[in-house]
Amino acid sequence: MTPYILETQDLEFKYDDGTFALKGISLKIEKGKKVAVLGSNGAGKSTLFLNFNGILKPTKGKLLFKNKEVKYNHASLFELRKSIGIVFQDPETQLFSSSVYQEVSFGPMNLKLSKNEVIERVEKALQDTGVSHLRKKPPHFLSYGQKKRVSIADILVMEPEVIIFDEPTACLDPKHTLQIMKLFDTVRQKGTTVIMSTHDVETAYSWAEQILVMKDGLLVKEGAPEDIFRDEELLNNADLVKPFVLETYDELVKTGIINSETITPRNKNDLFALIQKIEK
Ligand SMILES: Nc1ncnc2c1ncn2[C@@H]1O[C@H](COP(=O)(O)OP(=O)(O)OP(=O)(O)O)[C@@H](O)[C@H]1O
Ligand SMILES: [Mg+2]
Repeated sequence: MTPYILETQDLEFKYDDGTFALKGISLKIEKGKKVAVLGSNGAGKSTLFLNFNGILKPTKGKLLFKNKEVKYNHASLFELRKSIGIVFQDPETQLFSSSVYQEVSFGPMNLKLSKNEVIERVEKALQDTGVSHLRKKPPHFLSYGQKKRVSIADILVMEPEVIIFDEPTACLDPKHTLQIMKLFDTVRQKGTTVIMSTHDVETAYSWAEQILVMKDGLLVKEGAPEDIFRDEELLNNADLVKPFVLETYDELVKTGIINSETITPRNKNDLFALIQKIEK
């Protein structure tokens, strides 16, 4: 059996006010994959994520975790939330402690780990997200980007099997965006499944192994980054644009300046390497 860590079958979700936010989503996510979810404002990305870890219960359809249907009883939800960590789109809804240190240590202290392990994990999470120097500050006094990084540390420190990041790099400066994206790769190397939503097509194209595109509560396409971003009709339909690296590469091939490669460049360094091979 393929080790799908998460699966939805015809999942629907309606908010109390009648908004039909998810209109029958069927998808499968393999363990250890890097997955990006794209789609315009209001497409349903955050609603899907809240269904993924049981904060919201589907109105219809199923959620499966490790090939087992999630039952919405206490034990099943406890297991799901322990295994799937979510970093909310808005850090304000996540942070509640009186200092950054307390905030990040709260979760691991409840995991019944040894005191040393708690300290080790907290120090590492603070360092990895670049917020060590803010440890004594109350989270509500931080800048938005700093709050976002603390909210990421908050979940990383728990070491869940799946981490969901809802627009993790929105509002981060370029240096910290790079730091956070590198961090996701490190986390992934440990076998963690990383799912993130983003409006940044360049990041999604260079980082993801699987891309899910949503529109109006539906999954309109799922596939490898090249397949998604070469589908002009999809890009128009889902309000997306082609990443600059791919657009430049396709143009250079079309005009005969470079030969088509078996592996499409995924970032600017890959592209520069191809350009350097052009005979003068
Ligand atoms: N608590 C709520 N009550 C009622 N409707 C809601 C609620 N939260 C979201 N919605 C609606 O559900 C739909 C999907 O919203 P969602 O936040 O999942 O979109 P999104 O893809 O995450 O958008 P964004 O890119 O802006 O974050 C939207 O029409 C939104 O207005
Ligand atoms: Mg959202």
